[in-house]
Amino acid sequence: MSSSIMHDEIFEQPAALTRALTEGRSAVTALVAEAKRRDVRYLVLAARGTSDNAATYAKYLIQITCGLPAALAAPSVHTLYQADVDYRGALVIGVSQSGAGEDINEVVARAKKAGALTAALTNTADSRLAQEAEHTLLCHAGVEKAVAATKTYTTTLALFALLAAEWSGHNELHRGLERIADVAAQALTVEAQVQELARTLIHAERILTVARGLHLCTAIEAALKLAETSYITAQPFSSADLLHGPIASVAFNIPCLLFAPKGQTAAGIAEVAGSLRQKAARVLLLAGGDTEGAAALPLADPGTELLSPIVDILPAQLLAYHLTLARGLDPDNPRGLTKVTITR
Ligand code: AGP
Repeated sequence: MSSSIMHDEIFEQPAALTRALTEGRSAVTALVAEAKRRDVRYLVLAARGTSDNAATYAKYLIQITCGLPAALAAPSVHTLYQADVDYRGALVIGVSQSGAGEDINEVVARAKKAGALTAALTNTADSRLAQEAEHTLLCHAGVEKAVAATKTYTTTLALFALLAAEWSGHNELHRGLERIADVAAQALTVEAQVQELARTLIHAERILTVARGLHLCTAIEAALKLAETSYITAQPFSSADLLHGPIASVAFNIPCLLFAPKGQTAAGIAEVAGSLRQKAARVLLLAGGDTEGAAALPLADPGTELLSPIVDILPAQLLAYHLTLARGLDPDNPRGLTKVTITR
C-alpha cells in the first residue's frame, strides 16, 4: 500500500497501545488512588478537536462503569466570560495531545484554584498542560507528525479505559485491555476493502457518520478525520439526534457511514439504517456481531463493547486516508492546517 506519515502512524497504533497501557499504568493507578482519597464525586473533561472526541468516549465510559457523573467542559465559560465555577469534588482532566491549547490550560488552572483535583492527559511530557496539572497521564504514542491525529487518539482512549478499569475494578475491561493491541492489528487488516470503498466515494460531496451512546465518539472522530484530510463535508450524528430532524435532509445516494458494533446500540442503528434506506440514502454499515453479514465493512470484536471505540475508528482512519489519496490530495498536508492549533 502507498505510504505517508499518516499511513505509517495509523499502523503504529497496535504498538502504541501496548506502550500506553504498560508505561502509562502507574500514573493511572496513582491518579485513581488520589481521586478516591479525596472522595472525587464527578469528572469534567476539557479538550478540543480529536482530544475532545476522546473525551466524549470517557464521558460515557466513566458514567457506565464507575457510576460517577462525567461531563465535557465549556472552556469559553472561563476564557471569554471570565466566570468562576465551583469545582470542589471534581476531577478535572485536560486532554490535549500537544498540551498547548490555551483554553484547555486555562480550564485546568482555574479548576485547580477552585478546588478540583487536576490531571493532564497528553502526549507531550514537558507541555504547559502537564506543568499546570497535579497528575500527568502520558500517551506514550511517540511523536505524532501527521496533522491528522491517529495514534494519539487511540492511546488516549486506552488510557481512559484503563482509568475506568482501575477505578471500577471492572474485570471485562481489564481482560479486554490485555488483548486490545492484537484486536487493533486485526482491525487494520481490512485495508484493501477500505481502499475499494474509498474509490466509490471519490465524487461524494457530503457524508453522514452515525453512531449512538458509547460509540458516538467514533462517529464524530470519523467525521473530523474525513473532513480535514479529504475535504468532504462530513456531518456526525447521534442516531437519536438524527431522527429528531436532520434525517429530513438526507436524499438519494447520500453516503451514510453507520457504526454498529456488537452491543447495546446495534439494534437501534439497524433500525436507523432501514429508515435511511427508505430515503434511498447509500447506507454503509460498519458492523460486528449479528449484523456483520449486511456490513460494508466488518468491525473487530474486543470482547466487550466498552472497548470497541478503540478499534472501530481504525477502518475510518483508513477510509479518510484512502479517500484523500483517491481524490489526488496529500493526507499529510491538509490545506490551511498545522499540527498544533492554539485557541483561547
Ligand atoms: C486532529 O486530527 C486535528 N488535527 C485536531 O483536531 C487536533 O486534534 C486538535 O487541534 C487538538 O489538539 P490538541 O490535542 O493538541 O489540543
